[in-house]
Amino acid sequence: MSERHRLLITRRMPDAVTRRAQSDYDAVINPDDRIMPEAEWLAAAEGKDALMIASSEKITSDVVDRLPGSVRMIATYSVGYEHIDVAAVKASGRIVTNTPDVLNEAVADIAMLCLLGAARRSYEGQTLVRNGAWVGWHATMLLGKDLTGARLGILGMGGIGRAVARRARGFGLEIHYHNRSRLPEDQEEGATFHESAESLASVSDFLSISCPSTEETRGMINDDLIARMPPDAVLVNTARGDIVDDDAVIAALTSSRLFAAGLDVFRGEPALDARYRDLPNVFLLPHLGSATVNTRNAMGFCCLDNLDAFFAGKPCPTAL
Ligand code: DGY
Repeated sequence: MSERHRLLITRRMPDAVTRRAQSDYDAVINPDDRIMPEAEWLAAAEGKDALMIASSEKITSDVVDRLPGSVRMIATYSVGYEHIDVAAVKASGRIVTNTPDVLNEAVADIAMLCLLGAARRSYEGQTLVRNGAWVGWHATMLLGKDLTGARLGILGMGGIGRAVARRARGFGLEIHYHNRSRLPEDQEEGATFHESAESLASVSDFLSISCPSTEETRGMINDDLIARMPPDAVLVNTARGDIVDDDAVIAALTSSRLFAAGLDVFRGEPALDARYRDLPNVFLLPHLGSATVNTRNAMGFCCLDNLDAFFAGKPCPTAL
């Protein structure tokens, strides 16, 4: 690259991503991974040609108005982009990109971990062993739910949902899904389409959320939807916390209307609803969906591929 464009990276990146960014760009990188307050990163963006941000940086229309004129492109290190007012960014003449597909498999792995962790009472089992309270095997200890022969409802059958489906078939689960539109038959791979989330809920012994957070999906897992689920169902969320109505889920877990939940994402994270911490039938992870070395590298390379294309005057591979 003949000219080194100026890039602000708001969060610490994996080493391989940092090395490539520093070799190809005049890159300023948040060294200690402290989340920079808005005013601070906006000031750091002065004079930069592009930003590489994460979901910690909210790009509202007001922020777009205050972005330095030098910033012509924003690459978010995430597949989700609910933190960005995409229309406002585009209206300002800037390009915005995300990181689809590269994290499908890693997130699907975590969805299965959450599903199994919840169904097989992993938190209670771990606690028993770690606290020295385990008195030995007995026939009725921590009985969970079988996956084989049960129905898995997948809410959102994009790349991640389909990767979950592939894994779940191996566990003998029957796959059902709801999506904005029905998939072509070759992508359904035998999964049953439901026109509505309500219809999907009614057959979901396990319900796994893998749709984006949008106005339509926010709060979708509410009292009404849970009431439609079979008794003793398990809820899994690896998408976004705000798709779930926490009051409804916590009430259902407390009353055992839901057997268990496996949650990797939370509304307002890391400040999750504290009541989750006290529930034995919830398996909790700290937003680990895409957290493998290869996947986090691939996400960074996806951002950099977009930046390279943009500055070479080419179409960005994953522009929003
Ligand atoms: C994503 O890529 O959207 C992950 O959830 C990280 O925010």
